[in-house]
Amino acid sequence: MAEAPLEVAAGLNLEEYQELARGRLPPSHYDYIAGGSGDENTLRGNREAFQRWRIVPRMLRGVDAVDLSVTVLDEQVSMPILCSPVSFQRLCCPDGEIASAAAAKRAGTIFSLSTLATRTIEEVAEYAGAWWFQLYCYSDRSVTLDLVQRAEAAGAGAIIITVDMPIAGRREADERNSFALPEGVEVANLLQYLYRRLPETGGSGLAAYISSLWNPALSWDDVDWIAGRTRLPIGIKGLLAAEDARLAVEHGAKMVVVSNHGGRQLDQCIATVDALPSIVEAVGKQCEVLLDGGVRRGTDVMKALILGAKAVMIGRPYVWGLACDGEAGALRVLEMLRAELQLDMHLAGCGSLKDLSGIHLRQVS
Ligand SMILES: Cc1cc2nc3c(=O)[nH]c(=O)nc-3n(C[C@H](O)[C@H](O)[C@H](O)COP(=O)(O)O)c2cc1C
Repeated sequence: MAEAPLEVAAGLNLEEYQELARGRLPPSHYDYIAGGSGDENTLRGNREAFQRWRIVPRMLRGVDAVDLSVTVLDEQVSMPILCSPVSFQRLCCPDGEIASAAAAKRAGTIFSLSTLATRTIEEVAEYAGAWWFQLYCYSDRSVTLDLVQRAEAAGAGAIIITVDMPIAGRREADERNSFALPEGVEVANLLQYLYRRLPETGGSGLAAYISSLWNPALSWDDVDWIAGRTRLPIGIKGLLAAEDARLAVEHGAKMVVVSNHGGRQLDQCIATVDALPSIVEAVGKQCEVLLDGGVRRGTDVMKALILGAKAVMIGRPYVWGLACDGEAGALRVLEMLRAELQLDMHLAGCGSLKDLSGIHLRQVS
């Protein structure tokens, strides 16, 4: 029997949604989503870094309404908050990625569908508004190509190649829990059985899957190879160095996502909001720069935008919403963040995203 929708108390924020979701998920699924790699320094660091930037608001600018709309990769969205790709969403609710894609559509924003989705590209396309396909590269290039071609045929607006995961980061909770997919939940887009199941190894099934099937030697050649086989714009997700952002542009990327995979890959790497300024300086005029990692407050969104991001993405928060209440929960999370951003923009004297260019940030220790 489906669980009753959750009564959500007034005054709830995104962080508190995580606690609600924890009560609704089996511990190993909760740990898979919540966790980071190693000592989880990067996971915490993404949040901590936002606290070190403070906003210098402007007053008396006559703001009576706040327009959050923006165009990202030629797609007009209602707010600069998009959905990051997150794997295995049927761990959270039976509809999985269909529910979150539908929530993103209702919120007027872009949904990113993971290669490791538990609903097929074609199913999700039916319910999604604007959506991008996130690509992981298999050693067998025919598998990778099949995914790209199906995404293109189904109406994806871009291919986002995630480059920070040639191999899996060490997520100790998943090892302890022998993380695996429950019966009936599969890597839905992979046509052959071998590619659809996570092996049961006694450790992390995902780490074993990745090390046996993905290309560990991912390089710019792979980006060129993919770009040569699709007419869709290419985004590169998972960059932290300005040099890599410049290379992305040289290799034809229309967008880079400053990301450390939500602290799940290299532990001890730089927080995304701290990596953002140098990347914007290097490539901000040639391509769109997005950021994800630790965005939990309207003020976090503002800070990233003031530092030059075109938009931000959120990962865990909408998935916590999904775990609490399916599509309605994911939508609620997106709307909560929108409402906060609207309020914060008004309080800082900004009636539109363009007005953020008149707002300064100061770093505090
Ligand atoms: C449970 C989980 C699964 C993820 N799966 C993917 C994935 O399949 N592809 C990908 O590019 N990134 C994946 N990510 C990383 C997210 O796209 C994003 O970079 C990260 O969650 C942003 O940080 P946040 O969760 O603090 O918002 C995943 C993150 C989480 C938490």
